[in-house]
Amino acid sequence: MSILVIGATGKTGRRVTQRLADAGHAVRGVSRPVFDWERRETWAPALTGASAAYVTYSPDLAAPGAPEIVEAFVKTATAAGVERLVLLSGRGEAGAQRCEGLLRAGDVVVRASWFNQNFSEGHLLGSVMSGLIALPAGDVAEPFVDVDDIADVAVAALTDARHAGRVYELTGPRLLTFADAAAEIAEAADRDVAYVSLPAPDFHAALVPEVGPELADLLTALCEEVFDGRNASVTDGVRQALGRPARDFADFCAAAASSGAWT
Ligand SMILES: NC(=O)c1ccc[n+]([C@@H]2O[C@H](COP(=O)([O-])OP(=O)(O)OC[C@H]3O[C@@H](n4cnc5c(N)ncnc54)[C@H](OP(=O)(O)O)[C@@H]3O)[C@@H](O)[C@H]2O)c1
Repeated sequence: MSILVIGATGKTGRRVTQRLADAGHAVRGVSRPVFDWERRETWAPALTGASAAYVTYSPDLAAPGAPEIVEAFVKTATAAGVERLVLLSGRGEAGAQRCEGLLRAGDVVVRASWFNQNFSEGHLLGSVMSGLIALPAGDVAEPFVDVDDIADVAVAALTDARHAGRVYELTGPRLLTFADAAAEIAEAADRDVAYVSLPAPDFHAALVPEVGPELADLLTALCEEVFDGRNASVTDGVRQALGRPARDFADFCAAAASSGAWT
């Protein structure tokens, strides 16, 4: 039996795969075309022989149609004999929380706030490099979480039965506005980085040529949903799962800068 990682080339999946392999577990990392959320015939072959699976859903659990797809996926996993699913979910997203409710009793939810690594590996890397982070986030405060912490929690949940049935809500240890985050990145990277709050329609209009209307609709709606202050609090989810504190944004900035992410 092996542990399956879905989305193994992504920010969290890559780390989960590496950690499992380093610890000597039999691990199988998949993404398209081997496993494709849009091609159900790819699911059962990927799940066969897996005792547990780390599940990242693309583009987002809040996307239209996601609950039907997740429901069918859970059925397929059950039929394939997969004992535990560990689902990466989004904090404060009603659609994602609906999908969490489709899991089985012993499955695990890793419900994360905004990732630190959005600024160094994700969709905001280009913004950092251009010197301007433009989001419809006003001056809302976010407890940015580190994907290394998410990966550590996911690996623990995949490999230790004591985590069965848990919901871990993961944040970093500190609230920062996007202006604060830009300032800390600028300091660590030694470059000019500023934040500007965009009205949602302007954000949407700028996104359409980049990602198409469907994804632009989804991302704009998500920003409007989660940047209303609902996530402006920290949790002790990392400590609950791992018995140690969450990584601070300043440590992330120092590591990203020294790795050359912003060079
Ligand atoms: N970014 C955040 O701040 C944040 C916060 C909370 C939750 N989340 C959730 O995190 C999840 C994304 O996880 P991540 O950040 O680790 O990944 P990611 O870096 O966004 O990469 C996406 C992964 O999914 C794969 N993928 C894309 N489309 C796919 C499809 N149709 N079928 C199968 N695989 C597909 C990609 O590989 P290929 O392109 O090779 O297929 C890649 O491995 C999403 O559900 C998102 O809602 C994100």
